[in-house]
Amino acid sequence: MHILVIGGAGYIGSHVVKALLLNGDKVTVFDDLSTGQQINLFPQAHFIKGSILDTDALGRAMCQNVDAVVLLAGKKAVGESMENPAKYAVNNLTGCINVLNTMLECDVKKIVFSSSAAVYGAPTYLPIDENHPLNPTSFYGFTKLEMERLLHWYDTLKGIKSVALRYFNAVGYDAEGDVKGLENNPQNLLPIIMEVAIEKRPMLCIFGNDYDTPDGTCIRDYIHVTDLADAHVKALKFLKETGQSDIFNLGTQNGISVLEMVQATEEVIGRKIKSVYESRRPGDPSKLTACAEKAQNILHWQPLHSSVENIIRTTWAVYQKK
Ligand code: UD1
Repeated sequence: MHILVIGGAGYIGSHVVKALLLNGDKVTVFDDLSTGQQINLFPQAHFIKGSILDTDALGRAMCQNVDAVVLLAGKKAVGESMENPAKYAVNNLTGCINVLNTMLECDVKKIVFSSSAAVYGAPTYLPIDENHPLNPTSFYGFTKLEMERLLHWYDTLKGIKSVALRYFNAVGYDAEGDVKGLENNPQNLLPIIMEVAIEKRPMLCIFGNDYDTPDGTCIRDYIHVTDLADAHVKALKFLKETGQSDIFNLGTQNGISVLEMVQATEEVIGRKIKSVYESRRPGDPSKLTACAEKAQNILHWQPLHSSVENIIRTTWAVYQKK
């Protein structure tokens, strides 16, 4: 298949591109390089520099016998979305509408969409399955949910088939070192731990140690980006074979606390991670874990790369070189 990967120069997108190339697909990457990076581009994939806010550029990219779209482009910092909702409304919602309308114009009928566990909000039960109530607590999560709803309506009205993949906490790097780009000013836990390890930051601030968890710090479900990438390949196969739309969680069902992640990193890399406790970060639920049985049963997907050790080892391999 010829797959247009929108946002294919980003952290998750570049891993998806690698998985598609290994699967034998033809890949075109469409990315404005605002957060995606040139260094993440694979020479085997055709690259078009463009924004999802530029409908002409999208049209030129999509009307080249594209069989399916993978949409990863968008803004993803939860905190920023609460301070600057307009940026998220335009980039995520308008961007998604532009992609869907261009798909209609170019008669492209399949899309895999990168959604998020942020659509659920504070959990009412664990592990979270796909039937859990949808009550996003951030504007970022709201935009992801609205994008899923757009997909639903473009399917009902126009027959665009979609798979939405709800990622839990994406971590790790390609084990062969083929993805080298590091995020600038990362906001997520593991990249911040790594920046402390290479002394780019003085210390890690642990947001809260008074949660209702065994060690008092928040628990999350960390899923290796190579496992996420593999799910995109399987989602495209599912779309091709079944012609149906669906939604899947992607996680391990294994909860890891902030302190456990710090301690495991110290063991794997052999360096001390300086840390201090700070007050809770607003909006952080104490515990989030995924039920991903649906993806396992229907997509035949398994999180094979998501051991804590492998997550840390593959991330450290990239940071260590900086
Ligand atoms: C959030 C979103 C997730 C989104 C991801 C992308 C929710 C519920 N989750 O994940 O959907 O894909 O952001 O950005 O909205 N921590 C510290 N110190 C730090 C940084 C983080 O203690 O400097 C802690 C946090 O409090 C949290 C854990 O580490 O408990 C993970 O945080 P983070 O990596 O930011 O991801 P989430 O907030 O879980």
